[in-house]
Formats: sequence, C-alpha cells, structure tokens
Amino acid sequence: MGSVEQGIREHLLVDVDGVAGEKLPTKAAKLQVRNLTKRSETTGEPILREVNLDIPEGAIVGVIGPSGSGKSTLLRSLNRLWEPSPGAVFLDGQDICGLDVISLRRKVGMLFQLPALFDGTVADNVRFGPQLRGKKLAEAEVQKLLSLADLDPAFASKPVTGLSVGEGQRVALARTLANDPEVLLLDEPTSALDPISTQNIEEAIVRLKKSRGMTIVMVSHSVKQIQRIADVVCLVVGGVVVEVLDPSRLSQAEHPMARRFLELST
Ligand SMILES: Nc1ncnc2c1ncn2[C@@H]1O[C@H](COP(=O)(O)OP(=O)(O)OP(=O)(O)O)[C@@H](O)[C@H]1O
Ligand SMILES: [Mg+2]
Repeated sequence: MGSVEQGIREHLLVDVDGVAGEKLPTKAAKLQVRNLTKRSETTGEPILREVNLDIPEGAIVGVIGPSGSGKSTLLRSLNRLWEPSPGAVFLDGQDICGLDVISLRRKVGMLFQLPALFDGTVADNVRFGPQLRGKKLAEAEVQKLLSLADLDPAFASKPVTGLSVGEGQRVALARTLANDPEVLLLDEPTSALDPISTQNIEEAIVRLKKSRGMTIVMVSHSVKQIQRIADVVCLVVGGVVVEVLDPSRLSQAEHPMARRFLELST
C-alpha cells in the first residue's frame, strides 16, 4: 500500500472529528464498512477500493464525489442491492450478508434519484410495503406518512400518473418510510427538483433525523446542500473514500477535489 493510501486509511480510522473511525465504541456506528472492494462484473475493474467508513447512528452522512466515482455503488452495497463480500458491511455490528435480505431492506430503506411508482393512487403506493407483510395501513397512517414526506394528506386519493416529479419523489419517500426503516439511503433525492421542492425534502430529511433518530446516508452533487443538512461529509474519488470530515470544514480538506467541489457547488 502506498504512503498516501496509508495516510488516508489512518486518517479514516483514527481521527475523523470524533464521528467516524474505529476508536468509537462499536454501538455508536449504525453501519460499518470495512475494506469494501467492489469490482465490475463485466470488466473486473475495481469500482470501490478498500472503503472504510463508520456511519454514526442518528447522523446524516453526506456523500459527494465526481460522476462515476462509486457513490451509488457504495449506497447499494449497504442494503445488498449490490452484494458486498462477507465481512465488509455491518449493521448494528452484524454482517449484513448473514441477514435476511428482505428484512435488511426494510431496515435499510433506499430512495432512488428517479423512483418508479406503481400504477394506482398515492395511498396504494404508500401501502405497498406493509401490505407485503400482510398489514393494511389505515387512512390516518397513510396521511401521517405523507405529512412526514412533506406532502399534503389530500394527495392520498390522487392517481400517481398526474404527479409532478417533485411530488412523485415525496410519494416515493413516504412509501419507503412506510416500512419504518432505521436507515435511509438517499441517492441524489433532490437532483430533479426545483429549489422549493428541494427545501421541502431537506426539511423532511432533517425532521426524520430529529424526530425518529433515523440514520441517513445521502448522495448529493450539491456541496451546499450537504453543508445545510449533513453532520458528516464523505468524499469519494475513484472508488476511494478520500476524506471524511465535518461539512463546515470542507474548505480545509486535504484533497483538492473537495475544495474544487466547494468552489463550483450551487
Ligand atoms: N452494474 C454495473 N456493472 C458494471 N459497472 C458498473 C455497474 N454499475 C456501475 N458501474 C460502474 O461503476 C462506476 C461507479 O458507478 P456509480 O454509479 O457508483 O457512480 P456514481 O458516483 O454514483 O456516479 P453518478 O454521480 O454519475 O451517479 C462507474 O464507472 C460505472 O460505470
Ligand atoms: Mg450515482
């Protein structure tokens, strides 16, 4: 291992503003990533290289990095949409490869950049997850979930076909929340939204952290957004986690890409 890589590794594991790293007691980390390497199934090229990361319970962790750097792959490895190697990802100290995949995904819910909704009403979509487990959500429960996702409860009876992208995104968030997840993985949840919808989603995310103690990992291309809502920011470049730090200290980051992102971010 080269000295730069060694330095990064030591930085990550030893001192990351007291929020990430092996010095913390295990129970402080909701998710732990250990030497996660992921190769392309087609070319064999590494997409993620020996990623080490602790995701503290009840924190919002922002993930930034250039296009193609492996951010979505990292997120997908956390709930086995991409299968990590055994011993690489732990939820509450348990190797996720040993967990039932359906219950894992219920606990670690994911919201995609452009989520697909099922034909039917907003309420049909929100009820979908619990229904799979034989539970029918009452009207009031559906409305509560819609409010959590910052949608007017009157949306419940609307067909999803007429929704705007921003409204659809919030319905998808409500649908994910219906599974009562402990961790929420958000892959660029506001990239297709106008500034007001973006602000609404950001507020909803912060509320989920504060009111439910939810652990949230959010990929975003907006450093400013990360600075508004995240407790920790993780910079991924070329499949390597090169920095983990307090978002307010991005201007002092060692990696030049961090400062470049900060300068260019809207
Ligand atoms: N299913 C796949 N098979 C092979 N290679 C893949 C697959 N999915 C992603 N990759 C490759 O892995 C690399 C990282 O992709 P990933 O989608 O994780 O990047 P990203 O950081 O999320 O990018 P963006 O900001 O554009 O969303 C890219 O080079 C991509 O082409
Ligand atoms: Mg991506």
